[in-house]
Amino acid sequence: MATAAQRIDSTLAPHARRLDAARIADLVTADTGRPHDFALRVGGLYASFARQRYDRDARDALVALGDAAGLRQAVRALFDGVTVNTSEGRPALHVALRSALSQAPIARDAHAQAARARTRMAELVAALEASDVTDIVNVGIGGSDLGPRLVVDALKDFGTGRFRVHFLTNVDGSDVQHLLKGLDPARTAAILVSKTFSTQETLLNGAVVRDWLGGSERLYAVSANVPRAEAFGVAPERVLPMWDWVGGRYSLWSAVGFSIALAVGMAGFEALLAGAADMDAHVLEAPLAQNLPVLHALTAIWNRNALGLSTHAVLPYDERLALLPAYLQQLVMESLGKSVTPDGDDVGIETVPVLWGGPGTNSQHSFFQALHQGTQAVPADFIGVVSPAHPYVENHAALLSNLLAQTEALANGYAAEDPQKSYPGNRPSTLLLLDRLDPRSLGALVALYEHSVYAQSVLWGINAFDQWGVELGKRIAGELLPAVRGDGVAVDDPVTGALLDEIRARAARG
Ligand code: F6P
Repeated sequence: MATAAQRIDSTLAPHARRLDAARIADLVTADTGRPHDFALRVGGLYASFARQRYDRDARDALVALGDAAGLRQAVRALFDGVTVNTSEGRPALHVALRSALSQAPIARDAHAQAARARTRMAELVAALEASDVTDIVNVGIGGSDLGPRLVVDALKDFGTGRFRVHFLTNVDGSDVQHLLKGLDPARTAAILVSKTFSTQETLLNGAVVRDWLGGSERLYAVSANVPRAEAFGVAPERVLPMWDWVGGRYSLWSAVGFSIALAVGMAGFEALLAGAADMDAHVLEAPLAQNLPVLHALTAIWNRNALGLSTHAVLPYDERLALLPAYLQQLVMESLGKSVTPDGDDVGIETVPVLWGGPGTNSQHSFFQALHQGTQAVPADFIGVVSPAHPYVENHAALLSNLLAQTEALANGYAAEDPQKSYPGNRPSTLLLLDRLDPRSLGALVALYEHSVYAQSVLWGINAFDQWGVELGKRIAGELLPAVRGDGVAVDDPVTGALLDEIRARAARG
């Protein structure tokens, strides 16, 4: 049986060769139906792939690749709670946090547990709303930070305004020092969010905040390890559950989104879930050729494996989505940054590109020079919003015209007499256009990326739900801690040893 890598190679290589010299601008000119036929709408989200560097035949081959890779069955397996996270022996049932689209007992049970947790969360939200608390501090890192942080920031127009919500993440003590300086412990509640409740950063920051609060009355936790949260000093009635079957980077839909519910209210939180559920139903039901997350994933595979492009930019043209690239860095790179299959074999093909990005139009005055004239083509997702939530129509017209102009310029380029003023063009992009940015459309957008990531993992034959690559550094940091503290412990690595000597010598001088 062909490996995933062989299947991708054999399907895409003939088209990559055929399109080797193809130019996006020519593909558009040659195919008048392309602007419409390479686009699709799912609810309030419109996506155009018309500026990708493939044609209809290559696109059909990509869809056939998805079919041959068993994408349809793999998506069903995800929803049915099959053990897709094989290295940890777990399903990945984040979809059950927002959708009831499976009859499998494990998925139904997960959905029921999530509903019960949401009821408890709603009670805690109501109690806090009725209290004199003014500020909320979410203490967490990775998936226990990035998702809630993105959503709270993106939905600031939908905030109830009842609380100021802050995020405390970095183990760097200056993070906690600066945050607490501006807060009143008598008016602040803290939520310690950690699936494992063993994450160094969260435990250290959590301890500082717990002591600063001077008691556990306004201390909350969200964790899959309830005993540890309670042992840390959080009262059982203020611990919300999480489960092994939700990966950290897929968890904002669970009680990990407590801070979201406090920011936008339970109705806003439910609307976010409903938007994700719209995308869940779509990915499960739409044929592969009209399936937005699947086409997004196949496009990523084309750019990575057929065109050999090694980075991918995410460029939201909406300041409220400025944190999307950071959020997606974890979702995409922690999920797909793998080079072996679940059987331990070399995956045999390039996998995750480096994901980066920033908001437009700011980024135009920063790294866009390299996007237009650098030696590497960088495929990009541009994200725009049709109707703004502000009255500044001229600003919005300028924003949208810049968005459209950039995708056009990157694709079409420009030939000038002076090579320095020429633009090679032929740089592919996808445009995602939201009718408006609200809880429902944001839920759909994030779920689109989640499903695209899963589809890419299936196509590459890798596990999207583990992250063994983060463990080695954590272990070495643990081993070095006594030496850094100055306990006189010798270290094995000569370079680390020399660096420690330097640190000690400088620290002694103050
Ligand atoms: O170090 C990586 C990681 O395990 C992420 O996958 C996770 O989102 C983050 O740490 C935080 O983990 P926890 O929620 O258990 O504190």
